[in-house]
Amino acid sequence: MPQKIRVGLVGYGKAGSAVANVLSSDPRFELRWIARRTSSGKPQTHPGTDIPILGLESCPFSELLESDPVDALVDFSSRESIRTYGDEVRKRGILLVSAISAYSEDDLAYARSLAADTRVLCSPNITLGINFLIVAAKLLRKIAPFADVEILEQHFKDKPEVSGTARKIAETLEVDGERITSLRLGGIVGHHEVIFGFPHQTVRLTHESIRREAFGTGAAFALTQLTECENGFYTFDDLLLRLMQTELLDTNKPELKR
Ligand SMILES: NC(=O)c1ccc[n+]([C@@H]2O[C@H](COP(=O)([O-])OP(=O)(O)OC[C@H]3O[C@@H](n4cnc5c(N)ncnc54)[C@H](OP(=O)(O)O)[C@@H]3O)[C@@H](O)[C@H]2O)c1
Repeated sequence: MPQKIRVGLVGYGKAGSAVANVLSSDPRFELRWIARRTSSGKPQTHPGTDIPILGLESCPFSELLESDPVDALVDFSSRESIRTYGDEVRKRGILLVSAISAYSEDDLAYARSLAADTRVLCSPNITLGINFLIVAAKLLRKIAPFADVEILEQHFKDKPEVSGTARKIAETLEVDGERITSLRLGGIVGHHEVIFGFPHQTVRLTHESIRREAFGTGAAFALTQLTECENGFYTFDDLLLRLMQTELLDTNKPELKR
Protein backbone atom coordinates (compact mmCIF):
# COMPACT_ATOMS: atom_id res chain seq x y z
CA MET A 1 0.00 0.00 0.00
CA PRO A 2 1.41 3.46 -0.89
CA GLN A 3 2.51 5.65 1.99
CA LYS A 4 -0.13 7.87 3.50
CA ILE A 5 0.20 11.61 2.97
CA ARG A 6 0.73 13.27 6.34
CA VAL A 7 -1.44 16.38 6.48
CA GLY A 8 -1.70 19.41 8.77
CA LEU A 9 -4.96 21.37 8.54
CA VAL A 10 -4.99 25.11 9.26
CA GLY A 11 -8.40 26.51 10.25
CA TYR A 12 -11.13 24.78 12.22
CA GLY A 13 -14.20 26.89 11.55
CA LYS A 14 -17.31 26.02 9.52
CA ALA A 15 -15.33 24.78 6.51
CA GLY A 16 -12.22 23.45 8.31
CA SER A 17 -14.17 21.17 10.67
CA ALA A 18 -16.04 19.62 7.71
CA VAL A 19 -12.73 19.18 5.85
CA ALA A 20 -11.32 17.47 8.95
CA ASN A 21 -14.22 14.97 8.82
CA VAL A 22 -13.25 14.01 5.26
CA LEU A 23 -9.46 13.93 5.63
CA SER A 24 -9.54 12.02 8.93
CA SER A 25 -11.68 9.26 7.45
CA ASP A 26 -9.83 8.88 4.13
CA PRO A 27 -7.24 6.07 4.29
CA ARG A 28 -4.95 7.88 1.82
CA PHE A 29 -4.21 10.54 4.44
CA GLU A 30 -2.95 10.77 7.95
CA LEU A 31 -4.35 13.98 9.43
CA ARG A 32 -1.64 14.66 12.01
CA TRP A 33 -2.97 17.86 13.59
CA ILE A 34 -5.34 20.77 13.17
CA ALA A 35 -4.18 24.33 13.90
CA ARG A 36 -6.44 27.27 14.66
CA ARG A 37 -5.73 30.80 15.82
CA THR A 38 -6.77 30.40 19.44
CA SER A 39 -6.79 27.47 21.82
CA SER A 40 -9.54 26.63 24.27
CA GLY A 41 -6.99 26.29 27.08
CA LYS A 42 -7.48 22.54 27.54
CA PRO A 43 -6.39 19.72 25.19
CA GLN A 44 -8.90 19.28 22.38
CA THR A 45 -9.25 16.62 19.68
CA HIS A 46 -11.38 16.31 16.55
CA PRO A 47 -14.55 14.40 17.55
CA GLY A 48 -14.26 10.62 17.28
CA THR A 49 -10.47 10.77 16.74
CA ASP A 50 -7.29 11.51 18.68
CA ILE A 51 -6.22 14.23 16.21
CA PRO A 52 -5.13 17.24 18.30
CA ILE A 53 -6.55 20.72 17.69
CA LEU A 54 -3.86 23.25 18.58
CA GLY A 55 -3.86 27.01 19.07
CA LEU A 56 -1.09 28.79 17.16
CA GLU A 57 -0.75 31.46 19.83
CA SER A 58 0.90 28.86 22.10
CA CYS A 59 2.60 26.72 19.42
CA PRO A 60 4.03 28.50 16.35
CA PHE A 61 4.40 26.67 13.02
CA SER A 62 8.18 26.29 13.27
CA GLU A 63 7.80 24.31 16.53
CA LEU A 64 4.79 22.37 15.34
CA LEU A 65 6.45 21.27 12.09
CA GLU A 66 9.65 20.33 13.91
CA SER A 67 7.88 18.18 16.49
CA ASP A 68 5.23 16.71 14.17
CA PRO A 69 6.31 17.03 10.51
CA VAL A 70 3.80 16.77 7.66
CA ASP A 71 4.03 16.33 3.89
CA ALA A 72 1.19 18.75 3.15
CA LEU A 73 -0.69 21.72 4.60
CA VAL A 74 -4.35 22.40 3.83
CA ASP A 75 -5.44 25.96 4.60
CA PHE A 76 -9.06 26.84 5.45
CA SER A 77 -8.25 29.71 7.82
CA SER A 78 -7.82 33.33 6.71
CA ARG A 79 -5.79 35.26 4.15
CA GLU A 80 -3.23 36.32 6.80
CA SER A 81 -2.02 32.86 7.79
CA ILE A 82 0.00 32.08 4.63
CA ARG A 83 2.58 34.62 5.85
CA THR A 84 2.89 32.75 9.15
CA TYR A 85 3.70 29.35 7.62
CA GLY A 86 5.07 30.38 4.19
CA ASP A 87 8.77 30.29 5.10
CA GLU A 88 8.42 26.86 6.73
CA VAL A 89 6.58 25.50 3.68
CA ARG A 90 9.33 26.82 1.43
CA LYS A 91 12.18 25.58 3.62
CA ARG A 92 10.73 22.11 4.14
CA GLY A 93 9.22 21.64 0.64
CA ILE A 94 5.77 21.06 2.13
CA LEU A 95 3.00 20.75 -0.43
CA LEU A 96 0.34 23.46 0.06
CA VAL A 97 -3.39 23.38 -0.74
CA SER A 98 -4.92 26.76 0.05
CA ALA A 99 -8.68 27.27 -0.24
CA ILE A 100 -8.62 30.90 0.88
CA SER A 101 -11.13 32.85 -1.22
CA ALA A 102 -10.07 36.39 -0.33
CA TYR A 103 -6.37 36.60 -1.27
CA SER A 104 -5.17 40.00 -2.50
CA GLU A 105 -2.87 40.28 -5.53
CA ASP A 106 0.05 40.56 -3.07
CA ASP A 107 -0.98 37.40 -1.24
CA LEU A 108 -1.22 35.50 -4.53
CA ALA A 109 2.20 36.79 -5.60
CA TYR A 110 3.57 35.51 -2.27
CA ALA A 111 1.89 32.11 -2.79
CA ARG A 112 3.41 31.97 -6.30
CA SER A 113 6.85 32.74 -4.87
CA LEU A 114 6.60 29.66 -2.60
CA ALA A 115 5.97 27.55 -5.68
CA ALA A 116 9.63 27.90 -6.72
CA ASP A 117 10.46 25.43 -3.93
CA THR A 118 7.34 23.31 -3.60
CA ARG A 119 3.91 22.52 -5.07
CA VAL A 120 1.22 25.10 -4.34
CA LEU A 121 -2.47 25.06 -5.22
CA CYS A 122 -4.70 28.08 -4.58
CA SER A 123 -8.38 27.66 -5.31
CA PRO A 124 -11.07 30.16 -4.30
CA ASN A 125 -13.58 27.42 -5.16
CA ILE A 126 -12.36 24.00 -4.17
CA THR A 127 -15.50 21.94 -4.82
CA LEU A 128 -14.67 19.14 -7.23
CA GLY A 129 -18.16 19.13 -8.80
CA ILE A 130 -18.28 22.87 -9.52
CA ASN A 131 -14.81 22.83 -11.03
CA PHE A 132 -15.80 19.88 -13.22
CA LEU A 133 -18.98 21.70 -14.27
CA ILE A 134 -16.95 24.77 -15.27
CA VAL A 135 -14.49 22.72 -17.36
CA ALA A 136 -17.35 20.81 -19.04
CA ALA A 137 -19.30 24.01 -19.74
CA LYS A 138 -16.20 25.65 -21.20
CA LEU A 139 -15.71 22.71 -23.54
CA LEU A 140 -19.35 22.71 -24.68
CA ARG A 141 -19.19 26.47 -25.27
CA LYS A 142 -16.18 25.86 -27.53
CA ILE A 143 -17.94 23.06 -29.41
CA ALA A 144 -21.22 24.96 -29.78
CA PRO A 145 -20.58 28.72 -29.64
CA PHE A 146 -23.96 29.27 -31.34
CA ALA A 147 -26.01 27.81 -28.43
CA ASP A 148 -27.80 30.25 -26.10
CA VAL A 149 -26.40 30.16 -22.56
CA GLU A 150 -28.28 30.93 -19.34
CA ILE A 151 -26.96 30.50 -15.79
CA LEU A 152 -29.32 29.73 -12.93
CA GLU A 153 -28.22 29.90 -9.30
CA GLN A 154 -30.39 29.09 -6.28
CA HIS A 155 -29.45 29.69 -2.63
CA PHE A 156 -31.01 30.05 0.82
CA LYS A 157 -33.38 32.95 1.39
CA ASP A 158 -30.93 35.23 3.24
CA LYS A 159 -28.03 35.17 0.76
CA PRO A 160 -27.94 38.79 -0.40
CA GLU A 161 -25.47 38.85 -3.30
CA VAL A 162 -25.31 37.05 -6.64
CA SER A 163 -23.25 33.90 -6.21
CA GLY A 164 -19.51 34.41 -6.88
CA THR A 165 -19.42 30.99 -8.50
CA ALA A 166 -22.19 32.00 -10.95
CA ARG A 167 -20.21 35.14 -11.81
CA LYS A 168 -17.09 33.04 -12.35
CA ILE A 169 -19.05 30.71 -14.66
CA ALA A 170 -20.33 33.70 -16.68
CA GLU A 171 -16.81 35.13 -16.92
CA THR A 172 -15.31 31.79 -17.99
CA LEU A 173 -17.97 31.27 -20.67
CA GLU A 174 -17.68 34.92 -21.74
CA VAL A 175 -21.41 35.55 -21.32
CA ASP A 176 -22.90 38.72 -19.91
CA GLY A 177 -23.64 38.80 -16.16
CA GLU A 178 -27.22 39.65 -17.17
CA ARG A 179 -27.59 36.00 -18.20
CA ILE A 180 -27.48 34.95 -14.50
CA THR A 181 -30.84 34.32 -12.82
CA SER A 182 -30.79 34.16 -9.01
CA LEU A 183 -33.53 32.52 -6.94
CA ARG A 184 -33.62 32.87 -3.15
CA LEU A 185 -35.79 30.38 -1.33
CA GLY A 186 -35.88 28.25 1.81
CA GLY A 187 -32.61 26.66 2.89
CA ILE A 188 -31.02 25.70 -0.45
CA VAL A 189 -27.28 25.24 0.20
CA GLY A 190 -26.20 25.94 -3.38
CA HIS A 191 -27.51 25.09 -6.84
CA HIS A 192 -25.74 26.13 -10.05
CA GLU A 193 -27.05 25.27 -13.48
CA VAL A 194 -25.71 26.16 -16.91
CA ILE A 195 -28.36 25.75 -19.63
CA PHE A 196 -27.27 25.49 -23.26
CA GLY A 197 -30.17 26.15 -25.63
CA PHE A 198 -29.54 24.58 -29.02
CA PRO A 199 -32.10 24.91 -31.85
CA HIS A 200 -33.23 21.27 -31.48
CA GLN A 201 -32.02 20.22 -28.04
CA THR A 202 -31.21 21.54 -24.58
CA VAL A 203 -28.22 20.60 -22.41
CA ARG A 204 -28.29 21.32 -18.67
CA LEU A 205 -25.20 21.00 -16.48
CA THR A 206 -26.21 21.06 -12.83
CA HIS A 207 -24.36 21.04 -9.54
CA GLU A 208 -26.01 20.75 -6.12
CA SER A 209 -24.12 21.42 -2.90
CA ILE A 210 -25.28 19.17 -0.08
CA ARG A 211 -22.76 19.57 2.74
CA ARG A 212 -19.54 21.48 3.48
CA GLU A 213 -17.71 18.14 3.44
CA ALA A 214 -17.62 18.71 -0.36
CA PHE A 215 -14.74 21.14 0.32
CA GLY A 216 -12.84 18.22 1.88
CA THR A 217 -13.43 16.06 -1.19
CA GLY A 218 -11.92 18.84 -3.30
CA ALA A 219 -8.93 19.24 -0.97
CA ALA A 220 -8.36 15.45 -1.04
CA PHE A 221 -8.41 15.48 -4.85
CA ALA A 222 -5.93 18.36 -4.92
CA LEU A 223 -3.59 16.63 -2.45
CA THR A 224 -3.44 13.37 -4.40
CA GLN A 225 -3.00 15.13 -7.75
CA LEU A 226 -0.33 17.52 -6.48
CA THR A 227 1.84 14.65 -5.24
CA GLU A 228 2.26 13.71 -8.91
CA CYS A 229 3.16 17.24 -10.05
CA GLU A 230 6.45 19.09 -10.32
CA ASN A 231 7.13 22.07 -8.08
CA GLY A 232 5.02 25.00 -9.27
CA PHE A 233 1.80 26.94 -8.84
CA TYR A 234 -1.47 25.27 -9.82
CA THR A 235 -5.17 26.10 -10.02
CA PHE A 236 -7.91 23.50 -9.66
CA ASP A 237 -8.48 23.73 -13.44
CA ASP A 238 -4.85 22.84 -14.06
CA LEU A 239 -5.20 19.65 -12.02
CA LEU A 240 -8.48 18.63 -13.65
CA LEU A 241 -7.22 19.28 -17.17
CA ARG A 242 -3.99 17.44 -16.46
CA LEU A 243 -5.96 14.40 -15.27
CA MET A 244 -8.35 14.52 -18.25
CA GLN A 245 -5.46 14.75 -20.67
CA THR A 246 -3.70 11.79 -19.05
CA GLU A 247 -6.92 9.75 -19.13
CA LEU A 248 -7.55 10.49 -22.80
CA LEU A 249 -3.99 9.70 -23.83
CA ASP A 250 -4.00 6.51 -21.78
CA THR A 251 -6.96 4.88 -23.44
CA ASN A 252 -4.84 3.44 -26.27
CA LYS A 253 -7.46 4.58 -28.71
CA PRO A 254 -5.60 5.96 -31.73
CA GLU A 255 -8.48 8.30 -32.59
CA LEU A 256 -8.10 9.99 -29.20
CA LYS A 257 -4.36 10.42 -29.63
CA ARG A 258 -4.63 12.30 -32.91
N1 LIG B 1 -12.20 27.63 -1.65
C1 LIG B 1 -13.38 27.24 -1.20
O1 LIG B 1 -14.17 26.60 -1.89
C2 LIG B 1 -13.75 27.60 0.21
C3 LIG B 1 -14.88 27.05 0.82
C4 LIG B 1 -15.17 27.40 2.13
C5 LIG B 1 -14.35 28.27 2.82
N2 LIG B 1 -13.27 28.80 2.19
C6 LIG B 1 -12.35 29.73 2.88
O2 LIG B 1 -11.93 29.12 4.08
C7 LIG B 1 -11.71 30.11 5.05
C8 LIG B 1 -12.46 29.75 6.33
O3 LIG B 1 -13.85 29.78 6.11
P1 LIG B 1 -14.87 29.42 7.28
O4 LIG B 1 -16.24 29.68 6.77
O5 LIG B 1 -14.55 28.09 7.84
O6 LIG B 1 -14.47 30.55 8.36
P2 LIG B 1 -14.61 30.50 9.94
O7 LIG B 1 -15.77 29.66 10.35
O8 LIG B 1 -14.56 31.93 10.39
O9 LIG B 1 -13.27 29.77 10.45
C9 LIG B 1 -11.99 30.30 10.29
C10 LIG B 1 -11.00 29.40 11.00
O10 LIG B 1 -9.68 29.81 10.67
C11 LIG B 1 -8.93 30.03 11.87
N3 LIG B 1 -7.97 31.12 11.61
C12 LIG B 1 -8.22 32.38 11.22
N4 LIG B 1 -7.08 33.06 11.05
C13 LIG B 1 -6.07 32.21 11.37
C14 LIG B 1 -4.66 32.31 11.39
N5 LIG B 1 -4.04 33.46 11.10
N6 LIG B 1 -3.96 31.21 11.73
C15 LIG B 1 -4.59 30.05 12.04
N7 LIG B 1 -5.92 29.88 12.04
C16 LIG B 1 -6.65 30.97 11.72
C17 LIG B 1 -9.93 30.40 12.92
O11 LIG B 1 -9.36 30.13 14.19
P3 LIG B 1 -10.19 30.27 15.55
O12 LIG B 1 -11.15 29.10 15.52
O13 LIG B 1 -9.19 30.15 16.61
O14 LIG B 1 -10.86 31.60 15.48
C18 LIG B 1 -11.09 29.45 12.53
O15 LIG B 1 -10.87 28.16 13.08
C19 LIG B 1 -12.13 31.44 4.43
O16 LIG B 1 -10.98 32.08 3.90
C20 LIG B 1 -13.03 31.02 3.28
O17 LIG B 1 -12.98 31.93 2.21
C21 LIG B 1 -12.97 28.47 0.92
